[in-house]
Amino acid sequence: MKQGFFTITENRKLTPTTWLMRMTGDVSGIKAPGQFINIKLDGHFLRRPISICDARRDGITIIYKVLGHGTEEMTCLTPGAELDVLTGLGNGYDLSDAGEKPLLIGGGVGIPPLYLLARCLAETDNTVILGFNNADEIYYVDEFEKLGARVIVATADGSRGVRGFVTDAFRELVNQGETFTHFYTCGPEPMLKAVYEKVYEKAGISGQMSFEERMGCGFGACMGCSTKTKNGNKRICKEGPVLRTEEILW
Ligand SMILES: Cc1cc2nc3c(=O)[nH]c(=O)nc-3n(C[C@H](O)[C@H](O)[C@H](O)COP(=O)(O)OP(=O)(O)OC[C@H]3O[C@@H](n4cnc5c(N)ncnc54)[C@H](O)[C@@H]3O)c2cc1C
Ligand code: FES
Repeated sequence: MKQGFFTITENRKLTPTTWLMRMTGDVSGIKAPGQFINIKLDGHFLRRPISICDARRDGITIIYKVLGHGTEEMTCLTPGAELDVLTGLGNGYDLSDAGEKPLLIGGGVGIPPLYLLARCLAETDNTVILGFNNADEIYYVDEFEKLGARVIVATADGSRGVRGFVTDAFRELVNQGETFTHFYTCGPEPMLKAVYEKVYEKAGISGQMSFEERMGCGFGACMGCSTKTKNGNKRICKEGPVLRTEEILW
């Protein structure tokens, strides 16, 4: 873990509820896609954990949804402002299991960490399923496509792409005879549970799932994010947020 100050270079709306922020700063603590940062905001005791969407030589991109006071205040920050940020948090995704044909499944604000992952897996024949509630909420499809990924969009109301959930898009692929070597996912817990049942238990594909547990410290000290797994208790901020399908207990 590293603590440092990052300077905002861009902070703009992507959709009615989702914002993109770019910042420059020391990225040397960031080791893997799927890791997160923890942002200190003025007047708030607890930092706000946000996944790393992209990391380049001199800075990072994050994408955040406006949910409560903290994220609302983040929308008012302008280029040049400095943020106190902890980087290099969490284990991140393990790329070594990807195989030749990995499947990436993201829903809502679970999509950002899959972007850096897709960039790292650009040499593979990868497919990305992105789930949204409706067409207004769609973001980053072009960016994934520019990485060379095959992108399939699912919207719950059917306003774009496959009508239904990410698991409905997955079922269509399976019905077309598609197979995958491994899967990676991040999204709201009901989506993760459905992916676990349909992709791991039913279709027999092993994978790695990233959880968004509420956090206290964010770096392993307070046990506030401890969760039961088949391999004992794990801290989502330290031994997670990525857990393997084989160890998950619902
Ligand atoms: C590992 C990890 C990665 C995340 N990545 C992203 C991301 O890339 N984009 C994004 O939009 N959101 C992400 N989240 C969720 C994000 O942390 C919360 O939406 C955010 O903290 C809400 O803050 P708030 O002040 O607006 O809301 P408030 O409800 O006012 O927050 C009150 C407290 O609850 C915590 N909290 C509220 N909702 C969540 C939540 N869903 N998960 C964890 N803590 C929460 C806040 O951190 C804060 O301490 C991630 C969460 C985790 C744990
Ligand atoms: S949030 Fe403190 S141990 Fe995970």
